[in-house]
Amino acid sequence: MPIPPSEYVSNVWKQGIFDGRVVFVTGGAGTICSAQTRALVHLGANACIIGRSQEKTEAVAKDLATARPGAKVIGIGGCDVRDPENLVKAAERCARELGAIDFVIAGAAGNFVAPISGLTSNGFKTVMEIDVLGTYNTVKATIPYLVESAARNKGSKDGLTGGRILFVSATFHYTAMPMQAHVMAAKASVDSIMASVAVEYGPYGVTSNVVAPGGIEATEGLMRLASSKVDAKTAGAGIPLGRLGTVRDIADATVYLFSDAGNYVNGEVLIVDGADWRHRGMGVGLDADMRYPDYLLKGEFSKFVKTGRKDKSKL
Ligand code: COA
Repeated sequence: MPIPPSEYVSNVWKQGIFDGRVVFVTGGAGTICSAQTRALVHLGANACIIGRSQEKTEAVAKDLATARPGAKVIGIGGCDVRDPENLVKAAERCARELGAIDFVIAGAAGNFVAPISGLTSNGFKTVMEIDVLGTYNTVKATIPYLVESAARNKGSKDGLTGGRILFVSATFHYTAMPMQAHVMAAKASVDSIMASVAVEYGPYGVTSNVVAPGGIEATEGLMRLASSKVDAKTAGAGIPLGRLGTVRDIADATVYLFSDAGNYVNGEVLIVDGADWRHRGMGVGLDADMRYPDYLLKGEFSKFVKTGRKDKSKL
């Protein structure tokens, strides 16, 4: 049974905006990347997803193909992004069987929770290799196809696009997150690779951007990183928009960047986190028992602040 589209993409997008287009996705069997892919397939694209597990990748590919009658989705398992030759072969197979690579989502990543004291040099290196080298290998394997697609779609009058790459990053490294030294270093590098592609391949018509999700509910990432004692409601309470993100939030951002609406967006980081990263650290004007955002909604701040002017806001 196909998943209802409202669960993974909003209904503001026109059907067929990705007709005949092909997306190549590393980490495509994961929760976020599969939703991004499902949205593109629903709106007309065919897809090739890459993963380490043969069984999981092929099963998810089959399921993604249910997003649109007639959709073609290939699952290439046994492909580790740390192996450049495997990726080259996967890209060749995608182009041979589906006709092109118009879009790339570089989503494969590794993560676990560990303090620096519990992280060996090899543990750090492993995540750097998956995220950074894996991302670089993905760029190298697919960029020739993206350049061709950008050339084919130059000045396209029908609203169809091609020649776009999107990297899935994170927000930890904007401030800092304990127990994520390896991931912070890796994602900062991913953002930097994105910028290099933007300036080196922009002249060929290729666009290169990052989507930076915050905590996204019911994802493998959150399950790996968050305590099972913390539920979505509690986790969302400190986020300015009052909730965790959904896979649909990330899929919509992806559709935007790959669509005709994203033509001039290049070298950009699109943060989709409800402003979570902007609200870390201590608050001002607060007593120990005052919780965000309750005091704001009540128009209160501490009576014990020396420079406080009024008890209540006038709103
Ligand atoms: N804490 C500290 N170190 C850890 C760890 C943890 N929780 N998990 C793995 N490591 C270390 C290992 O101890 C090893 O280092 P060592 O040889 O010095 O002991 C190193 O990382 C490599 O581990 P290994 O299991 O051989 O790597 P792998 O290539 O098989 O797996 C991982 C890669 C570690 C990233 C694994 O978690 C993984 O496969 N993740 C993929 C899925 C994923 O992370 N998704 C997240 C999406 S947000």
